[in-house]
Formats: sequence, structure tokens, C-alpha cells
Amino acid sequence: MLKIKLTERADSEILVVGLGLVGKKLQIESTGAQIDTAALLTTLTSMGASGEVDEVIKLPSKSNKLIVFTGLGKIESNFSPELLRRAAGAAARHLLGNDSASFALPHKSVAEIAAIAEGAALGSYAFTEFRGSSKGAQKNPLSSITVVTRFANTAQAKSAIKRAEIIAEQTFLVRDLINTPPSSLTPDSFCLRTKKLASKYGVKVEILNDAALRKGGYGGIIGVGQGSANPPRLLHLTYSPTKAKKRFAFVGKGITFDTGGLALKPANGMEAMKADMSGAAAVVAAIFAIAQLKLPVAIDAWAPLAENMVSDTATRPSDVITIYGGKTVEVLNPDAEGRLVLADALVKAAEVGKKSGGLDGIIDVATLTGAQVVALGSRTSAVMTNDENFSGQFLTAANIAGESFWPMPLPVELRASLDSPIADLANIGDRMGGMLVAGLFLKEFIDPQTPWLHLDIAGPAFNEKIAHGYTPVGGTGIALRSLLCLAELASSQA
Ligand code: BES
Ligand code: MN
Ligand code: ZN
Repeated sequence: MLKIKLTERADSEILVVGLGLVGKKLQIESTGAQIDTAALLTTLTSMGASGEVDEVIKLPSKSNKLIVFTGLGKIESNFSPELLRRAAGAAARHLLGNDSASFALPHKSVAEIAAIAEGAALGSYAFTEFRGSSKGAQKNPLSSITVVTRFANTAQAKSAIKRAEIIAEQTFLVRDLINTPPSSLTPDSFCLRTKKLASKYGVKVEILNDAALRKGGYGGIIGVGQGSANPPRLLHLTYSPTKAKKRFAFVGKGITFDTGGLALKPANGMEAMKADMSGAAAVVAAIFAIAQLKLPVAIDAWAPLAENMVSDTATRPSDVITIYGGKTVEVLNPDAEGRLVLADALVKAAEVGKKSGGLDGIIDVATLTGAQVVALGSRTSAVMTNDENFSGQFLTAANIAGESFWPMPLPVELRASLDSPIADLANIGDRMGGMLVAGLFLKEFIDPQTPWLHLDIAGPAFNEKIAHGYTPVGGTGIALRSLLCLAELASSQA
């Protein structure tokens, strides 16, 4: 497992420093490192270095085996934590094949050290499980990261790197689960993997199998899963610390593969639908991280897991299903499956929350709509809510965590488009504003008294383009850090 250390003076053979711009002039920004700045700048200038964010240049030097320059862009008196996170992450990504490196990036506070440690760790990821004959040629990421700082001996800095290790461990879990091919990650194997880890972190596990789901009346999860040879599950994790200040339920969409069902998706791009369980992975990792950090916040994490397949047993367009709790839904489009499994889980989560004294908030996380990607692109996720105060808190948390979320409305006038002539609700409505329509569908299954957030992470969950900052190609781990940060904010409130 990845190890992070602190030191006051850099001694490692590989040294990461910043390279930025003052006007058009390059400038090296580092801390606690003695390097031949003038000579290096001459070399960098003649190489045509830009100093822009995401540029990484490696140079040999007399004092070190390698000096790695990572772009900081325009030099400011303060670098934002997210800029440092990305700069450290980009450098780490370019150090595959090396075991250890020291990060001597500029900073003024422990919050910035935390960001450097997180970024360096998050950039040190590779998914190698399925390499066969090419395994030997595979270069491993850094396994040891040293952060150079004059705060090295402070308790705050020590706990910051401990936290960064936990964030990396859990982000890697999310990424691994997403990257795992769906033949190897079924609803059942998702549960078994999670169960093993849960015992390690002191988190309670309950798993409902298909028989229990049918008996319990979970028509959404059953209906979506019934076309697959890999039967559906409802995974429930509980973390209950002795003195909890708040209680939240997290609900993550867990479609282990989304073919679209009988509304079959085009082959081109369907492979990315292995990531349709990103919400489930994020909520599972979030509860683990919260448990590891022993935060005084009670969490129930729910993952409705199903594989949306095509077969003679699949749900037909026009079939009517009954969601847990009794609402009926006419399935006009079997490709709008996420909302069906989430509806079951949201109703159940609220019921269980009520029994344990009421929820302070319920948050669902889902790769729910293509419309999310159209609206906000592949790096910004959406937040929809019935409680502006709660979404405000969440956006603060996301901002601290360095994850891009943007508020979206739930316009009442779109609700009528979800009316069905024969059931309580149809599973699709207006195509225009499809992300909001999906949010309005979920809202039908939420108690108006309970603060609720719907996070649509369809684009940001899976990076199909190029690696950037601390984000690799493939599963990204989005939402985990914001959920953790929200729990931390709740912990520090009276
Ligand atoms: N899993 C998809 C949404 C998705 C699309 C995630 C692209 C990531 C990238 C979801 O189940 C889906 O198919 N949604 C449909 C809904 C429509 C039928 C109302 C969509 O967005 O097209
Ligand atoms: Mn779908
Ligand atoms: Zn889906």
C-alpha cells in the first residue's frame, strides 16, 4: 500500500518542484530543496518549457537523480489547494517505474500540504489486475511519497498525510471497482468484495439477494436485474459511532453493466457502461473512509446492484413495476434503469433512517443521465436538491475537496411529463432537460421533510479521454472526497 512521509529537507533522489510563470518568465517554485536554479532555468527556457498546468518535465541534475518540474501556471502569492493537488498528481503520473519521490512544492499552510500529499497519492495509480503477457512491461506507480515541508514535525501535518493515505486507499478502491470488467464485477461479486473490506474497517454489512428482494417487494431492482444471469442485490453498510452528531444515508447507483436492456444502446461506446456502478463504489468507499477516520457521523450506505441486460426475461417497454413502498412505474424505456433501482433504495434508506431516529440528509450518487454530460461536460457533476441549505453545505465540501459540482434546478413544470396513463409514474418524461427530469423522478420517492441531494456524476465518473492532474484514464473516484468532506464538516459542527 502507498506510504506518505514528511521531511523538512529533501534528500530523495527524485525531487518534484514547481515551475510557473511571472509574466512570460519561467520561475522555479520549491521548498526545502537546494537546486541549481539559474542553470536549470537556462535549460528549461531553451527546451521551450511553458510552466503551464499539466506540463511535466524531467531533468537529470548534479544534486539529484532527477528533478521533476510540474507546471503551476501564473505564479500567485498563494496557490490554491486544488492547483497543488493537480500539479503533484501530474508529476506522480509521470513517475511510473520509480518507487519513491520527494515533493518540494510551495505552500504556506497545512491545508496545502494535505493537498500536495493527496494529489501525489492520487496520481500514483495503475490498474494492472487484467494484464497478462504485458504485465512484466508494466511500470508501477510510486509506492512511497515524501512531502517536503517545514511543518514536518507538527501534529496537523502528520494527521493530514494519514488522511491523504486513506483518501488514496479508498479512491483506488472506487477506481478498481469501476475499471474491473463486468464479467468480473457482478452484483454478487461487488457485495463479496465489499463485505471482506467492511469487516476490516469495522463497518456492518447486510446483503439482500434476489430471493429476498422479490419477497421484500423491491420491484425496481428486480425489474432491472431480471434480464441477467447475474442476479441483483441490495447492499447495505452501516457505520454507527457511539456519539454521532449527524446521521446521513448515502445511496449509490450500482448497475454493473448497462446495455440499455431492450432499449439496447449502440455498440459504439457501450463499453463505458461498465462504469455505471460508480455511484455505488463511491458511497461504499465513502463510508469506509469515514469509518477509518472515526468521524462522529453515523452513515448508512446503500447500493442497489443489478445488471441491465437483454434477454427473454428482461423488462419490456410498457411493463409496470412496483417500487418498494407501493408506487407503481410504467417502464417506457428500460434504459432509464438507474432511477428504478435508486427509487427502491431511497425509500428503504428513508424507512431505516426513520427507525434509527431520523436522517439529517439523504444523498444519492449516480451515473444517471447522458443529459448530465451534455449540460456540464465530462469534468463537472450536477447537484439537485429539495433543500438549498443542504446543497450549500455540500458545495462548500466539494470545493474544499477539489471536486467540481454545480447546482441544477428541479423545475416543477417538467414533472407532468413523467405522468403515465396507467401507472403512478412513467420512468421517462421530456427529453429536453433530461437530467432534471431524472431528478424529478427520484424526488417522487423522497420525503419532503428530509434534506436530499441528487448527484449526477455521469460524465466525471469515468475518464474516457486523457489523463490530467491526478486523474487517470478510466474510473476517477469522483464524489468520494466530497462525501467525506461533508461528513467532516458535519463532525466539526456543534
Ligand atoms: N447509465 C446511463 C447514463 C449515462 C450516459 C451515464 C452516459 C454515463 C454516460 C443511464 O442509465 C441511461 O441510459 N440514461 C438514459 C435515460 C433516458 C433513456 C431517459 C440517457 O441518458 O440516455
Ligand atoms: Mn441506462
Ligand atoms: Zn445506467
